[in-house]
Amino acid sequence: MTDVPTWPRMGAEECDAAIEWIRSNRMTQLHGPDAVGAFEAALAAYHDVPHAVAVNSGTSAVHLSLAALGIGPGDEVVVPTYTFVASATPVVYQGATPVFVDVRESDYCLDPARVAEAVTPRTRAVVAVHLNGHPAAVTALREICDRHGLALVEDAAQAIGARYGDRSIGAFGVTTCLSFWQDKIITTAGEGGAILTADPGIAARLRQLRSHGETAVDAPRLYHHSILGYNYRLTAPQAAVGTVQVGRLADFVECRRRNAALLSEALSGIAAVRLPGVVGPAVPSWWKYTCVLDPEAGAPAPAEFTEALRRRGVPAQPRYPIPLHRQPVFAPYVDAGRAYPVAERLCARAFSLPVHPAIEERHIAFIADQVRAVAAGSGGR
Ligand SMILES: Cc1ncc(COP(=O)(O)O)c(C=O)c1O
Repeated sequence: MTDVPTWPRMGAEECDAAIEWIRSNRMTQLHGPDAVGAFEAALAAYHDVPHAVAVNSGTSAVHLSLAALGIGPGDEVVVPTYTFVASATPVVYQGATPVFVDVRESDYCLDPARVAEAVTPRTRAVVAVHLNGHPAAVTALREICDRHGLALVEDAAQAIGARYGDRSIGAFGVTTCLSFWQDKIITTAGEGGAILTADPGIAARLRQLRSHGETAVDAPRLYHHSILGYNYRLTAPQAAVGTVQVGRLADFVECRRRNAALLSEALSGIAAVRLPGVVGPAVPSWWKYTCVLDPEAGAPAPAEFTEALRRRGVPAQPRYPIPLHRQPVFAPYVDAGRAYPVAERLCARAFSLPVHPAIEERHIAFIADQVRAVAAGSGGR
């Protein structure tokens, strides 16, 4: 058996950067703002946006985006039903109503036609999730948002490094949310996030919301809190790790694109396994390589298929077994009259394979052999 490597891989530079800040005894952003400021500057430069605001998670990034936009009770926010729970929970934190919408078979992202149908006079924003590193149809979504006066929030937690045409993610939404959780494309040592924006007023509001709603955090502190805020700050050692990781980002994304292309080649021709596509001008950053099983070609359910793969040493996972409209936490918000055929199909059939930069060609050959063998052994062809 070939050992398929895990992700992330932290190098000496990341460790040294964190230790330097720990040794300095200036670990909070309040006493070590230069580390957080340097990380924000690196993120803003990479994305060619004027402002990046670092926070302690991708969930906090989505929450603060909605808070900064003033979304609250009585407002509706459109969210795909096929995504990670944290694309939608922040809507509920704000006392607003998540309106779940179906996705497209082609890219697993929001279907603009379904979004247009879901808009009501109460709709205030659309959360466009770039799932698995594949950008959502941002041009079409932006057009709908502009037509109805809605805010487009890009949830790019899984998609740092992705482009749509010649523009990086972050160029389309009023805010764009990033996550640096442990196995994301880059990490700030386990947890972390950031918000990108071109709007200086929103950037200022995000900074205030991030730190207890305090009017200014410069010394001497005034302890003056004009709005309801949170403690969503990133620490200095985490930010220092993040700055090193931003320096590696272009290489990481290139590796992921190469691995995805190699996997597509190695997995071609298995009738029971439909491979992920690239839609329109999207240039994905390939966080996960997500395939769809075809029961009509003899494939079993993803739980069974991925369990067989894991027994053979391939860390495959069912890719969101439960859509958000069937999660108990969102039961009060679900419109029983709305159908989600694509999301239901994906939840019943999709699984993901790793394509991260630690994977080499020999691992790809191994993974493809195992997928082929499991598909054949389970009756799939
Ligand atoms: C689409 C999406 N949005 C938001 C988040 C939340 O990010 P975090 O785990 O950093 O809070 C995640 C995390 O995986 C995600 O996948």
